[in-house]
Amino acid sequence: MRTLIKHVLHREEPTEEIHVAGWVRTRRDSKTFSFIELNDGSCLVNLQVVADSGMPGSDDLHHMSTGSSIEVKGRLVESPAKGQKWEMQATEIKLLGAAPDDFPLQKKGHTPEFLRSISHLRPRANLYGAVFRVRSRMAYAIHRFFQERDFFYVHTPIITASDCEGAGEMFRVTTLPDHDAANDAEDFFGKRAFLTVSGQLEGEAFACALSNIYTFGPTFRAENSHTSRHASEFWMVEPEMAFCDLEGDMDVAEAMVKFLVTEMLEHQEGDLDIFARFVDKGLKERLEFVKDRPFERISYTDAVDLLIKSGVKFEYPVQYGHNLQSEHERWLTEEHFKCPVTVFNYPKEIKPFYMRLNEDDKTVTAMDVLVPGIGEIIGGSQREERLDVLLENFERHGIDPGHYDWYADLRKFGTVPHAGFGLGFERLLMFVTGMHNIRDVIAFARTPGHCEF
Ligand code: 4AD
Ligand code: MG
Repeated sequence: MRTLIKHVLHREEPTEEIHVAGWVRTRRDSKTFSFIELNDGSCLVNLQVVADSGMPGSDDLHHMSTGSSIEVKGRLVESPAKGQKWEMQATEIKLLGAAPDDFPLQKKGHTPEFLRSISHLRPRANLYGAVFRVRSRMAYAIHRFFQERDFFYVHTPIITASDCEGAGEMFRVTTLPDHDAANDAEDFFGKRAFLTVSGQLEGEAFACALSNIYTFGPTFRAENSHTSRHASEFWMVEPEMAFCDLEGDMDVAEAMVKFLVTEMLEHQEGDLDIFARFVDKGLKERLEFVKDRPFERISYTDAVDLLIKSGVKFEYPVQYGHNLQSEHERWLTEEHFKCPVTVFNYPKEIKPFYMRLNEDDKTVTAMDVLVPGIGEIIGGSQREERLDVLLENFERHGIDPGHYDWYADLRKFGTVPHAGFGLGFERLLMFVTGMHNIRDVIAFARTPGHCEF
């Protein structure tokens, strides 16, 4: 049976015969043998294969160029070369698929833009292989974090009729040939349907039954933001906790970020190295720092004060009652506190209808977790659990309560204080890898004007 190269490289003892397969990264030939650097994607490091000319399959050696796929049988022997414990002395080698000279990943040093245009081959580049191994590991760690704390995983719908964030940035789902508003009733679902922007509202229904739940799935936003942090399709992790207030919400959010950062530091050694070398020299230090220190917490009002008093000339001036811009968020985390910052209690006017109104009648129990290099990676809140206040919120936000009667029911029947948040999974990945553009941590990215593959 085939052994993954990752396991081969970790062996304590040399072996009798083993069998590996993968893609050729490079090949060097001498008169009597060839050196092949082989990678099967299981880890960053290549296995060096030494193949003598004359062995079974060696007639094809000259076809085993960069990008081709091969199968090798042989023995592991201690490598005389520096920096590697083992190499493989091949006894049999077989070409599976050649890769002609126009294989685009011949040389290193391609731009991220070019690599995006070959997203189907991109995971074979070392850096991107690492990104997507980390993505898998982080998804697993998210399940572990919540499962070990008695949260249940709930699958909320992808097609929905409600706009959770109330921002109207939704993709329409329709089978009608023309998207005429007048004939909604003739549409597939007999009403208007959209791709979800968040599983929160449905998540609340389940928290108000199972106590602690989380969702983790794709979400969609039709916002026309051309930034390195916005995608039209991205994944969100949304825990929701009954009998929980804003304080408890922030505790869980911060603990989760620390857990994921620790997981990255402890389990992703090989891959972490490549990010630290080629993407962000300060990465390890920053992750260690986040792991070890408490996050700063500051109210929106105090944060605005700090920003105004800073005297910094921002592109967008800071003003109470306006959303914090990414440059403001980055000043707080990178320049001022130099650590992750949780900002809470935002003005009610700039936040969605479901957030709980504070006693001051001006602010709501919103919280955003901001991290250096990115800004917001988490947005959450305590939810309005008082039916009368929720109904007032609907009115203030111009929402037809008829669309949300089921949501109001959760307040009518056995209402409880509850809270939750959403972690942008790709923003987290950018944070733990140092990758600068969200499109480079998504397998096949969807952004305004881009839906290739
Ligand atoms: O702050 P947001 O909009 O909050 C919600 O959707 C709430 N319903 C979450 C909740 O309380 N259950 O989004 C949450 C996070 C943001 O902090 C950000 O990390 C990410 O989702 N996000 C995006 N990531 C990539 N591309 C986009 N267009 C994103 N919009 C939000
Ligand atoms: Mg937000």
